[in-house]
Amino acid sequence: MKHLLTLKDLSGETILELIRLGESVKRFPESYSEALKNKVLAMIFQKTSTRTRMSFEAGMAQLGGHAIYLDWCTTNLTVGHLQDEVRCMGRYANAITARVDNHRTLRQMARVSEIPVINALSDRFHPCQALGDLLTIKEKTGRLSGLKLAYVGDGNNVCNSLIIACTAVGMRISVATPSGYEPLPEAVNAARKSGLLQLGKDPVKAVRGADIVYTDTWVSLGHEEESKERLKVFPPYQVNSKLLGKSRPFIMHCLPAHRGYEITDEVMDGPQSVVFDQAENRLHAQKALLLGLLK
Ligand code: CP
Repeated sequence: MKHLLTLKDLSGETILELIRLGESVKRFPESYSEALKNKVLAMIFQKTSTRTRMSFEAGMAQLGGHAIYLDWCTTNLTVGHLQDEVRCMGRYANAITARVDNHRTLRQMARVSEIPVINALSDRFHPCQALGDLLTIKEKTGRLSGLKLAYVGDGNNVCNSLIIACTAVGMRISVATPSGYEPLPEAVNAARKSGLLQLGKDPVKAVRGADIVYTDTWVSLGHEEESKERLKVFPPYQVNSKLLGKSRPFIMHCLPAHRGYEITDEVMDGPQSVVFDQAENRLHAQKALLLGLLK
Protein backbone atom coordinates (compact mmCIF):
# COMPACT_ATOMS: atom_id res chain seq x y z
CA MET A 1 0.00 0.00 0.00
CA LYS A 2 1.58 3.29 -1.11
CA HIS A 3 -1.40 5.66 -0.91
CA LEU A 4 -4.91 5.34 0.51
CA LEU A 5 -7.36 7.19 -1.71
CA THR A 6 -10.16 4.60 -1.52
CA LEU A 7 -10.53 1.22 0.18
CA LYS A 8 -10.60 -0.30 -3.31
CA ASP A 9 -6.80 0.13 -3.00
CA LEU A 10 -6.74 -2.55 -0.25
CA SER A 11 -7.60 -6.25 -0.20
CA GLY A 12 -10.07 -7.58 2.36
CA GLU A 13 -7.15 -9.29 4.16
CA THR A 14 -5.19 -6.00 4.36
CA ILE A 15 -8.26 -4.24 5.78
CA LEU A 16 -8.60 -7.00 8.40
CA GLU A 17 -4.90 -6.72 9.27
CA LEU A 18 -5.36 -2.97 9.84
CA ILE A 19 -8.36 -3.64 12.09
CA ARG A 20 -6.33 -6.17 14.10
CA LEU A 21 -3.49 -3.65 14.40
CA GLY A 22 -6.00 -0.98 15.46
CA GLU A 23 -7.24 -3.30 18.23
CA SER A 24 -3.66 -3.81 19.41
CA VAL A 25 -2.88 -0.08 19.29
CA LYS A 26 -5.99 0.65 21.34
CA ARG A 27 -5.20 -2.04 23.91
CA PHE A 28 -1.46 -1.45 24.24
CA PRO A 29 -0.83 2.22 23.33
CA GLU A 30 2.49 2.33 25.20
CA SER A 31 3.92 -0.37 22.93
CA TYR A 32 3.59 2.03 20.00
CA SER A 33 4.54 5.31 21.70
CA GLU A 34 7.81 5.68 19.77
CA ALA A 35 6.86 3.75 16.65
CA LEU A 36 6.81 6.86 14.46
CA LYS A 37 9.47 8.86 16.30
CA ASN A 38 10.68 11.80 14.18
CA LYS A 39 8.08 11.11 11.49
CA VAL A 40 6.00 14.04 10.27
CA LEU A 41 2.46 14.06 8.85
CA ALA A 42 1.30 17.01 6.74
CA MET A 43 -2.46 17.50 7.16
CA ILE A 44 -4.11 19.54 4.40
CA PHE A 45 -7.69 20.66 4.95
CA GLN A 46 -9.83 22.29 2.28
CA LYS A 47 -12.95 21.73 4.41
CA THR A 48 -13.81 21.92 8.11
CA SER A 49 -13.19 19.00 10.48
CA THR A 50 -13.27 18.08 14.16
CA ARG A 51 -12.74 14.30 14.39
CA THR A 52 -10.45 13.74 11.42
CA ARG A 53 -8.12 16.60 12.26
CA MET A 54 -7.95 15.79 15.98
CA SER A 55 -7.59 12.03 15.55
CA PHE A 56 -4.74 12.32 13.04
CA GLU A 57 -2.95 14.98 15.08
CA ALA A 58 -3.41 13.15 18.39
CA GLY A 59 -2.50 9.85 16.71
CA MET A 60 0.82 11.18 15.42
CA ALA A 61 1.65 12.62 18.87
CA GLN A 62 0.82 9.30 20.56
CA LEU A 63 3.06 7.43 18.09
CA GLY A 64 5.99 9.73 18.87
CA GLY A 65 5.72 11.75 15.67
CA HIS A 66 4.41 15.17 14.76
CA ALA A 67 1.57 16.53 12.60
CA ILE A 68 1.44 19.88 10.80
CA TYR A 69 -2.00 21.35 10.11
CA LEU A 70 -2.19 23.16 6.77
CA ASP A 71 -5.31 25.15 6.00
CA TRP A 72 -5.69 25.13 2.22
CA CYS A 73 -6.65 28.83 2.24
CA THR A 74 -3.67 30.05 4.26
CA THR A 75 -0.94 28.14 2.41
CA ASN A 76 0.40 28.64 -1.08
CA LEU A 77 -1.77 25.77 -2.28
CA THR A 78 -4.09 28.60 -3.36
CA VAL A 79 -1.49 30.30 -5.55
CA GLY A 80 1.12 27.67 -6.41
CA HIS A 81 0.90 24.69 -8.74
CA LEU A 82 -0.63 21.86 -6.68
CA GLN A 83 1.88 19.26 -7.79
CA ASP A 84 4.87 21.54 -7.07
CA GLU A 85 3.54 22.21 -3.57
CA VAL A 86 3.06 18.47 -2.97
CA ARG A 87 6.60 17.70 -4.14
CA CYS A 88 7.92 20.26 -1.65
CA MET A 89 5.89 18.75 1.20
CA GLY A 90 7.63 15.46 0.54
CA ARG A 91 10.93 17.14 1.47
CA TYR A 92 9.63 17.93 4.99
CA ALA A 93 7.06 15.26 5.80
CA ASN A 94 6.77 11.47 5.66
CA ALA A 95 3.07 11.34 4.69
CA ILE A 96 0.27 13.66 3.64
CA THR A 97 -3.36 13.44 4.63
CA ALA A 98 -5.75 15.66 2.71
CA ARG A 99 -9.45 16.56 2.95
CA VAL A 100 -10.49 17.95 -0.41
CA ASP A 101 -13.56 19.20 -2.27
CA ASN A 102 -12.86 17.10 -5.33
CA HIS A 103 -11.45 13.56 -5.35
CA ARG A 104 -9.52 14.47 -8.51
CA THR A 105 -7.26 16.68 -6.35
CA LEU A 106 -6.16 13.60 -4.37
CA ARG A 107 -5.38 11.71 -7.57
CA GLN A 108 -3.26 14.63 -8.79
CA MET A 109 -1.39 14.70 -5.50
CA ALA A 110 -0.81 10.94 -5.44
CA ARG A 111 0.48 10.97 -9.02
CA VAL A 112 3.55 13.03 -8.07
CA SER A 113 3.95 12.40 -4.36
CA GLU A 114 6.94 10.37 -3.22
CA ILE A 115 5.34 10.01 0.21
CA PRO A 116 1.99 8.32 0.99
CA VAL A 117 -1.18 10.36 0.40
CA ILE A 118 -4.16 9.52 2.62
CA ASN A 119 -7.73 10.56 1.81
CA ALA A 120 -9.10 12.39 4.85
CA LEU A 121 -12.46 12.77 3.00
CA SER A 122 -13.30 13.73 -0.55
CA ASP A 123 -16.61 14.22 -2.32
CA ARG A 124 -16.48 10.51 -3.32
CA PHE A 125 -14.97 8.53 -0.43
CA HIS A 126 -14.15 8.62 3.29
CA PRO A 127 -11.96 5.52 3.76
CA CYS A 128 -10.56 6.47 7.19
CA GLN A 129 -14.10 6.73 8.52
CA ALA A 130 -14.94 3.25 7.27
CA LEU A 131 -11.78 1.77 8.84
CA GLY A 132 -12.74 3.25 12.22
CA ASP A 133 -16.28 1.96 11.72
CA LEU A 134 -15.12 -1.61 11.11
CA LEU A 135 -12.97 -1.42 14.25
CA THR A 136 -16.06 -0.29 16.21
CA ILE A 137 -18.26 -3.05 14.79
CA LYS A 138 -15.65 -5.70 15.60
CA GLU A 139 -15.28 -4.28 19.13
CA LYS A 140 -19.05 -4.34 19.75
CA THR A 141 -19.92 -7.67 18.16
CA GLY A 142 -16.65 -9.64 18.25
CA ARG A 143 -16.74 -10.30 14.51
CA LEU A 144 -17.32 -8.78 11.08
CA SER A 145 -18.05 -11.56 8.61
CA GLY A 146 -21.70 -12.58 8.50
CA LEU A 147 -23.10 -9.37 10.03
CA LYS A 148 -25.61 -7.11 8.31
CA LEU A 149 -25.25 -3.31 8.28
CA ALA A 150 -28.16 -1.16 7.07
CA TYR A 151 -27.26 2.28 5.74
CA VAL A 152 -30.22 4.67 5.56
CA GLY A 153 -30.10 8.13 3.99
CA ASP A 154 -27.84 9.84 1.48
CA GLY A 155 -25.65 7.66 -0.75
CA ASN A 156 -22.67 9.89 0.00
CA ASN A 157 -18.90 9.48 0.47
CA VAL A 158 -19.36 7.65 3.80
CA CYS A 159 -21.90 5.28 2.24
CA ASN A 160 -19.56 4.61 -0.71
CA SER A 161 -16.68 3.69 1.59
CA LEU A 162 -18.89 1.55 3.83
CA ILE A 163 -20.08 -0.41 0.79
CA ILE A 164 -16.48 -1.22 -0.15
CA ALA A 165 -15.35 -1.85 3.44
CA CYS A 166 -18.24 -4.08 4.53
CA THR A 167 -18.30 -6.26 1.43
CA ALA A 168 -14.48 -6.63 1.49
CA VAL A 169 -14.64 -8.21 4.95
CA GLY A 170 -17.67 -10.44 4.37
CA MET A 171 -20.41 -8.24 5.83
CA ARG A 172 -23.78 -7.75 4.16
CA ILE A 173 -24.77 -4.13 3.57
CA SER A 174 -28.28 -2.99 2.73
CA VAL A 175 -28.52 0.60 1.49
CA ALA A 176 -31.79 2.58 1.38
CA THR A 177 -31.61 5.96 -0.37
CA PRO A 178 -34.15 8.16 -2.15
CA SER A 179 -34.11 8.23 -5.97
CA GLY A 180 -31.34 10.44 -7.25
CA TYR A 181 -29.22 10.02 -4.10
CA GLU A 182 -27.85 6.52 -4.72
CA PRO A 183 -24.22 5.59 -3.99
CA LEU A 184 -21.57 5.87 -6.71
CA PRO A 185 -21.46 3.20 -9.44
CA GLU A 186 -17.71 2.93 -8.66
CA ALA A 187 -18.52 1.71 -5.13
CA VAL A 188 -21.43 -0.46 -6.24
CA ASN A 189 -19.35 -2.12 -8.96
CA ALA A 190 -16.50 -2.79 -6.52
CA ALA A 191 -18.94 -4.62 -4.25
CA ARG A 192 -21.11 -6.33 -6.84
CA LYS A 193 -19.17 -9.56 -7.24
CA SER A 194 -19.27 -10.18 -3.47
CA GLY A 195 -23.06 -10.61 -3.66
CA LEU A 196 -23.27 -8.88 -0.26
CA LEU A 197 -24.71 -5.53 -1.35
CA GLN A 198 -28.43 -4.81 -1.51
CA LEU A 199 -29.64 -1.46 -2.87
CA GLY A 200 -33.15 -0.09 -2.49
CA LYS A 201 -35.37 2.80 -1.53
CA ASP A 202 -37.24 1.30 1.42
CA PRO A 203 -35.66 2.03 4.84
CA VAL A 204 -37.98 -0.44 6.61
CA LYS A 205 -36.82 -3.26 4.36
CA ALA A 206 -33.16 -2.20 4.69
CA VAL A 207 -33.11 -2.29 8.51
CA ARG A 208 -34.95 -5.62 8.78
CA GLY A 209 -32.59 -8.11 10.45
CA ALA A 210 -29.73 -5.58 10.63
CA ASP A 211 -27.07 -5.87 13.34
CA ILE A 212 -26.05 -2.25 12.77
CA VAL A 213 -28.07 0.71 11.51
CA TYR A 214 -25.98 3.60 10.17
CA THR A 215 -26.92 7.05 8.98
CA ASP A 216 -25.22 10.31 8.07
CA THR A 217 -26.14 13.91 7.34
CA TRP A 218 -28.62 14.59 4.55
CA VAL A 219 -26.58 17.65 3.46
CA SER A 220 -22.89 16.76 3.16
CA LEU A 221 -20.11 19.35 3.00
CA GLY A 222 -20.26 20.83 -0.50
CA HIS A 223 -24.02 20.26 -0.97
CA GLU A 224 -25.18 23.19 1.16
CA GLU A 225 -26.85 24.92 -1.80
CA GLU A 226 -29.12 21.83 -2.19
CA SER A 227 -30.33 21.98 1.45
CA LYS A 228 -33.90 23.09 0.70
CA GLU A 229 -34.50 20.35 -1.87
CA ARG A 230 -32.82 17.66 0.25
CA LEU A 231 -34.82 18.54 3.36
CA LYS A 232 -38.01 17.85 1.36
CA VAL A 233 -36.82 14.44 0.09
CA PHE A 234 -35.08 12.85 3.08
CA PRO A 235 -37.52 12.91 6.07
CA PRO A 236 -38.86 9.36 5.36
CA TYR A 237 -35.24 8.20 5.86
CA GLN A 238 -34.92 9.47 9.43
CA VAL A 239 -33.52 6.87 11.85
CA ASN A 240 -36.05 6.97 14.69
CA SER A 241 -37.69 4.54 17.09
CA LYS A 242 -40.59 3.93 14.70
CA LEU A 243 -38.20 2.75 11.99
CA LEU A 244 -36.33 0.48 14.42
CA GLY A 245 -39.51 -1.00 15.96
CA LYS A 246 -38.67 -3.77 18.41
CA SER A 247 -35.25 -4.47 16.86
CA ARG A 248 -32.09 -3.57 18.81
CA PRO A 249 -29.28 -2.98 16.29
CA PHE A 250 -26.20 -0.97 17.17
CA ILE A 251 -26.64 2.63 16.00
CA MET A 252 -23.80 4.36 14.17
CA HIS A 253 -23.31 7.86 12.80
CA CYS A 254 -19.99 9.27 11.62
CA LEU A 255 -20.84 12.74 13.07
CA PRO A 256 -21.43 15.61 13.04
CA ALA A 257 -25.11 14.70 13.44
CA HIS A 258 -28.06 16.92 12.73
CA ARG A 259 -30.33 15.84 15.54
CA GLY A 260 -33.99 15.87 14.59
CA TYR A 261 -33.14 15.40 10.92
CA GLU A 262 -31.35 12.16 9.95
CA ILE A 263 -31.47 10.83 13.55
CA THR A 264 -33.61 11.57 16.59
CA ASP A 265 -32.24 12.41 20.05
CA GLU A 266 -33.92 9.28 21.39
CA VAL A 267 -31.95 7.00 19.07
CA MET A 268 -28.70 8.94 19.15
CA ASP A 269 -28.66 8.98 22.96
CA GLY A 270 -30.26 5.54 23.36
CA PRO A 271 -28.62 2.43 24.83
CA GLN A 272 -27.77 0.96 21.42
CA SER A 273 -25.94 4.04 20.19
CA VAL A 274 -22.15 3.62 19.82
CA VAL A 275 -21.46 6.96 18.13
CA PHE A 276 -18.89 8.25 20.62
CA ASP A 277 -16.91 4.99 20.71
CA GLN A 278 -17.10 5.15 16.92
CA ALA A 279 -15.62 8.67 16.98
CA GLU A 280 -12.85 7.50 19.34
CA ASN A 281 -11.99 4.57 17.10
CA ARG A 282 -11.04 6.94 14.29
CA LEU A 283 -7.93 7.54 16.41
CA HIS A 284 -6.95 3.89 16.82
CA ALA A 285 -7.74 2.87 13.23
CA GLN A 286 -5.76 5.79 11.81
CA LYS A 287 -2.81 5.04 14.07
CA ALA A 288 -2.86 1.54 12.57
CA LEU A 289 -3.05 3.02 9.08
CA LEU A 290 -0.11 5.36 9.74
CA LEU A 291 1.92 2.44 11.10
CA GLY A 292 1.02 0.39 8.02
CA LEU A 293 2.11 3.17 5.68
CA LEU A 294 5.18 4.49 7.51
CA LYS A 295 6.71 1.77 9.63
N1 CP B 1 -16.68 12.04 10.67
C1 CP B 1 -15.81 13.01 10.35
O1 CP B 1 -15.08 12.93 9.36
O2 CP B 1 -15.80 14.06 11.23
P1 CP B 1 -15.13 15.46 10.92
O3 CP B 1 -15.81 16.01 9.67
O4 CP B 1 -15.39 16.31 12.13
O5 CP B 1 -13.67 15.25 10.66
